[in-house]
Amino acid sequence: MVDVALTKDEQARAHRARATLVRKLTEVGALHDPAWRQAVAEVPRHVLIPHYFDNGGSTTWLAVDSANPDQRDDWLDAVYSDRTLVNDLGTLPSSSGDTPSRVPTGSSSLPSLVVAMLEKLDVQADERVLEIGTGSGYSTALLCHRLGSSNVTSLDINPRLVDEARGRLAALHYTPTLIAGDGAIGYPYGAPYDRIIATCGVTHVPSAWIRQLGAGGRIVAPLDGTREGGLMVLDKAAPDEVTGRFDAMLTFFMPMRDDPDHPWGPARGMSHTARGCMAHDGTTDLDPSTLISDDHDWWLFLRLHLPGATFGHTLDPAGRRDGISVHTTASSAIAAFAPIGPDEWRTTQRGAGRIWDTVESARRTWERLGMPRRTRLGITALDDTNHQYVWLDDPNGAYSWPMPL
Ligand SMILES: C[S@@+](CC[C@H](N)C(=O)[O-])C[C@H]1O[C@@H](n2cnc3c(N)ncnc32)[C@H](O)[C@@H]1O
Repeated sequence: MVDVALTKDEQARAHRARATLVRKLTEVGALHDPAWRQAVAEVPRHVLIPHYFDNGGSTTWLAVDSANPDQRDDWLDAVYSDRTLVNDLGTLPSSSGDTPSRVPTGSSSLPSLVVAMLEKLDVQADERVLEIGTGSGYSTALLCHRLGSSNVTSLDINPRLVDEARGRLAALHYTPTLIAGDGAIGYPYGAPYDRIIATCGVTHVPSAWIRQLGAGGRIVAPLDGTREGGLMVLDKAAPDEVTGRFDAMLTFFMPMRDDPDHPWGPARGMSHTARGCMAHDGTTDLDPSTLISDDHDWWLFLRLHLPGATFGHTLDPAGRRDGISVHTTASSAIAAFAPIGPDEWRTTQRGAGRIWDTVESARRTWERLGMPRRTRLGITALDDTNHQYVWLDDPNGAYSWPMPL
């Protein structure tokens, strides 16, 4: 079923907008390969995104729908701009009795990111690809355009998205294998795959992907996380092993979740145990405000030391940010921005570990190692998930950290 039929004028406009998008994606350095250029020029993204949710930077989401004449122009502009368009919202239960918040659980990712990741996949004609995270079906459609539908298998944990994508892809004469299910277990019936691409973030490399990837195969998968921006590009090194590096490109994706009804994926909350624990007050000579930087390489390095940690701010009574907070499921720490002496800031730590001390030692190590950029970090992952590591410079070198992160 096609949800969207364009008028003749709109068709001409969409055609021009696609050509402009190709030019823009080329200019920003995301698109080089003529075959992917042709796919972007020819796949009508508007068919796959008949409506989306916009929050205009606030917490309230508004539906923008092609069926609404007042929104039609905005909608057509949006689907052919380099924008992430949210197509699914989940509900976060509120612990305090407030209105539950709505958070994005599905989107058609930023086209420049989609094509840059597809180029990193380095796929050749007739190769077989497994995609994790069908979403709107736009990246699935690009893959079908390039490889033919019979070479494309795509999974999404949200059955509604899969059903909608199936109908819209069929209207474009694309008939990939589409499965509603947990991408972590892949789809063994179509294996081996030459390439596996994930468009949701992971904390490790699911063993099923390693097993279902054929010899010479490649996995391109983003690391889950809001600040780290990690993208893993991994090649098959042995039947049970992949290895590779973090790419220089930054990617921010929603997490791969094992429960379609849980919007935030793996548990990230602070446990009650940590909240109720006695506070250990102390001081630090590491200025907490310097940590809130845009240096994503630092955040990635820190993530290696504090898997699953969440960072935020503390607020003063007037609602201004006055400190940094960090928590894992077992521990928490805050460090105040206001110095209490020369090079001295106050910290409070609770729970099973002193996690501010970990932040501090990670920062010292990072500085001592010359603030390593992400491309110095590699990954070796066996299909036994107890043997997956991130390493610095050399798999057998002095620095390595276990996954999951
Ligand atoms: C960023 S969106 C996908 C974008 C998509 N490739 C596109 O072009 O529209 C991420 C998707 O991952 C899906 N997802 C999350 N966890 C998953 C899982 N365990 N298995 C499969 N899909 C999952 C979400 O439902 C969501 O649709």
